[in-house]
Amino acid sequence: MIRAMVPPAATASSNLQSSPQAPAPVGTPSAPAVKDPAKDTILTPRFYTTDFDAMAAMDLRPNEAELEAICEEFRKDYNRHHFVRNAEFDGAADKLDPETRKVFVEFLEQSCTSEFSGFLLYKELSRRIKEKNPLLAECFAHMARDEARHAGFLNKSMADFGLQLDLGFLTSHKAYTHFKPEYIFYATYLSEKIGYWRYITIFRHLEQNPESKIFPIFNFFENWCQDENRHGDFFDALMKAQPKSVTGLRARLWCRFFLLAVFATMYVRDVARKEFYEALGLDARTYDELVIRKTNETSARVFPVVLDVENPRFWEGLERLVRNNAALSEADDSGAPAPLKLIRKLPHWAANGLEMAKLFLMAPIRSERFQPAVR
Ligand SMILES: [Fe+2]
Ligand SMILES: [Fe+2]
Repeated sequence: MIRAMVPPAATASSNLQSSPQAPAPVGTPSAPAVKDPAKDTILTPRFYTTDFDAMAAMDLRPNEAELEAICEEFRKDYNRHHFVRNAEFDGAADKLDPETRKVFVEFLEQSCTSEFSGFLLYKELSRRIKEKNPLLAECFAHMARDEARHAGFLNKSMADFGLQLDLGFLTSHKAYTHFKPEYIFYATYLSEKIGYWRYITIFRHLEQNPESKIFPIFNFFENWCQDENRHGDFFDALMKAQPKSVTGLRARLWCRFFLLAVFATMYVRDVARKEFYEALGLDARTYDELVIRKTNETSARVFPVVLDVENPRFWEGLERLVRNNAALSEADDSGAPAPLKLIRKLPHWAANGLEMAKLFLMAPIRSERFQPAVR
């Protein structure tokens, strides 16, 4: 899956708030209405494109054996028979109260868009580099297969609520962010690993608290997250095949930036949607803290530096972003004329930019100190 993230300039100039959901017509599970896509904000999942020629020309020899082994795992297609809907889904949507239903549909939409974003990028990569880089192309094709399955499965669950995302429309109408290959590595590696930790954490929590399992889709999360974990391992191996992407000053700065962007975006978005986590019996902050710590720890296996998440200043900074975001949402919902809204929002945008800069400048931790054994 591919999640949204905050580029540095966007933090100061854009709104960190979550998108208001347009009231969509609701159909029935057998004839779901097409849902208007959520408005694009900094917190909604993005679509990516990259420099395909540079990808095609990539020399894999420094880590070819590991990539070949990962490709062999992909070929086994462990989850070929996993994503099959069963009778548990029948009528499950009707059991949710209206408020839970609303936040749950938002969750499904966001997840479906993220998964689909991964599908599009991987599919296009596999297609465009097929001739020149067959091993890499094959890996991307297998990952596209997995993400298509994930997105389709989520979209079927949306249909249980009488809604459906028009993925063809999204493909042609959503804006694409262009990242050079290295940034694609950092962003997708983090998306996959954070996706793994998000899914497995929810799965384990619901295993312990079955009364909070509000929808049968969560039963599928354990095998599902193994797909994301394998995708993350693929990017780990790919970065090791391109050692420059994870060594040197530039790499250290960019890894810091991407870690911060991904963590901050997720934290702000999840706290703003804490009702969804409450419906599962989870506290959004506690959940995010765990996911961030785990992803940070995992990232130390390949990134040259990771963030100092043990420093209380890190969490204080994230909380200030949450407060700025709340103030921005409030200004937006105020019904004031647009110029007045803008004036009200400016200081909070500036504060967000400053906060992100302060967080970025916090001393990182060298990975070899963090996880000497695995490196
Ligand atoms: Fe996925
Ligand atoms: Fe994935």
